[in-house]
Amino acid sequence: MTSDGERAPFPPALLTEEQVRTRVAELAEEIARDFADCDELVCLGILKGSVFFLVDLVRALPIPAAVDFFQTASYGSSTTPGEVLIKKDVDLSLRGRDVLLVEDIVDTGHTLATVLAMLRLRRPRSLKLCTLLDKPDRREVEVPIDYIGFSIENRFVVGYGLDYDEKYRHLPYVGYLDD
Ligand code: IMP
Ligand code: MG
Repeated sequence: MTSDGERAPFPPALLTEEQVRTRVAELAEEIARDFADCDELVCLGILKGSVFFLVDLVRALPIPAAVDFFQTASYGSSTTPGEVLIKKDVDLSLRGRDVLLVEDIVDTGHTLATVLAMLRLRRPRSLKLCTLLDKPDRREVEVPIDYIGFSIENRFVVGYGLDYDEKYRHLPYVGYLDD
């Protein structure tokens, strides 16, 4: 609430609900084509940001899929390489399986670079990365991204899972905050 009792308006849209929905369907088609011969694709989401995207993506996937989640946290600054720790681990065994890591956004790349290295130690048959959003101008570490929903400019975005201080995750579109 603002001082005069008004609720603060929701942020303006960078990507509308319709744009997101259309793109998620396209990504699902592309992924299904690439994994047409696979027995089961393990779709692995990083809590909490990727949940909304992953749920819509797997529902659109016309191939057998398993779903699992894990959660990371970083010691101090999230931009310090190698300082990502696992807060909640994956439940499923990844050994010998086809794994699709699903993320909300790749920014500096530090989180994903560390997570990918950790997941490779579990010996999956294949490991691919799908992100809804990519901010290439912010990259500090190279991350191999196999599927990108939208490449965006350097703006702080919220909604469709992305938060600012745990707010705005519930928005059905991707909005941006001005400062
Ligand atoms: P990275 O290690 O810098 O790539 O950090 C990626 C993580 O930072 C994402 O998983 C998000 O949780 C968070 N993040 C980066 N940019 C944004 C943004 O624009 N909005 C919300 N969260 C963001
Ligand atoms: Mg995240």
